Amino acid sequence: PPFNLRHYAGFWLPEVTLMEGFRAVHSGVFSPRPTDVLLASFPKSGTTWLKALAFATLKRSDHHPLAVDHPLRHRNPHDCVKFLEFEIGTGEEFEALPSPRLLATHLPYTLLPESGCRVVYICRDPKDALVSYWHFTKKASPAVGVDARSFTIQDAFELFCQGRCLGGPQWQHALQYWEESLKRPDRVLFLRYEEMLLDPESHLKKLAEFMGCGFSGEEEESGVVSAIVELCSLGKMKDVEVNRNGSANRLGVKYEYFLRKGAVGDWSNHLTPEMAERLDKIVEDALQGSGLTFGIGA
Ligand code: PPS
Repeated sequence: PPFNLRHYAGFWLPEVTLMEGFRAVHSGVFSPRPTDVLLASFPKSGTTWLKALAFATLKRSDHHPLAVDHPLRHRNPHDCVKFLEFEIGTGEEFEALPSPRLLATHLPYTLLPESGCRVVYICRDPKDALVSYWHFTKKASPAVGVDARSFTIQDAFELFCQGRCLGGPQWQHALQYWEESLKRPDRVLFLRYEEMLLDPESHLKKLAEFMGCGFSGEEEESGVVSAIVELCSLGKMKDVEVNRNGSANRLGVKYEYFLRKGAVGDWSNHLTPEMAERLDKIVEDALQGSGLTFGIGA
């Protein structure tokens, strides 16, 4: 609730993912290539930003970040990097993309198709992801025929704590990718939204290295790194026409709904200290011994 979710392999996933998308991903229609880069996340954890940063970085030889006609100056990042499980369709569009392909997913790690491709995971403090999810759900629901006007933050919180939200439980989602990143750091890069906001440039350099397209000294000197960070900043994205004029994606969800506040700790404006404590405890208990924590200094 308010979306139609089904419990599958330990996670709450939308029916649509399990039916069309999941089948297409696993039927062999889509075959991952070793050069593919898959951007993975629990919803509302910085996916849109990561899509923009990775796209601008990986495609910089085709599109200089300062170019006035750069795709990110007139398209939403979700229109540049598609979700595997929602947008695969017949798979043909994906197969036609030139290598290195950049794709995204909200699927848990254990439900990804077998592949040798690189995976970049972005996580966020679950309390902020929850608050972001609640805002988004209220705005985006009418587009998918759901009336979420009476969906309170208390409702969202209870469901989130039970793991009953898209991709939930959030902590299990992150834990799977975390464990894989420890086992195979060359294959899975684990990033935190809060740390990236603190120091976007050094994280962007790390991301580029990981994707196999590190910045040269010359590029760094010419300001390419900071130009990409600037191009992908929330403020710049909000200025883009399609993100202000009501344009929507294939599902009818307006692009502007993916860009809100982009703050750390916005949860404190919506959750009581008791709610925060309860959720923190659930997460802490579930992650005990894993070494995974969320937020800055983790
Ligand atoms: S989705 O639907 O899963 O793709 O959503 P996702 O992009 O993961 O999460 C949306 C939140 O990310 C914030 N956001 C950004 N932060 C910093 N920089 C950029 N460029 C950016 N783009 C999106 C967005 O505002 C949502 O967070 P909240 O807390 O709701 O503001």
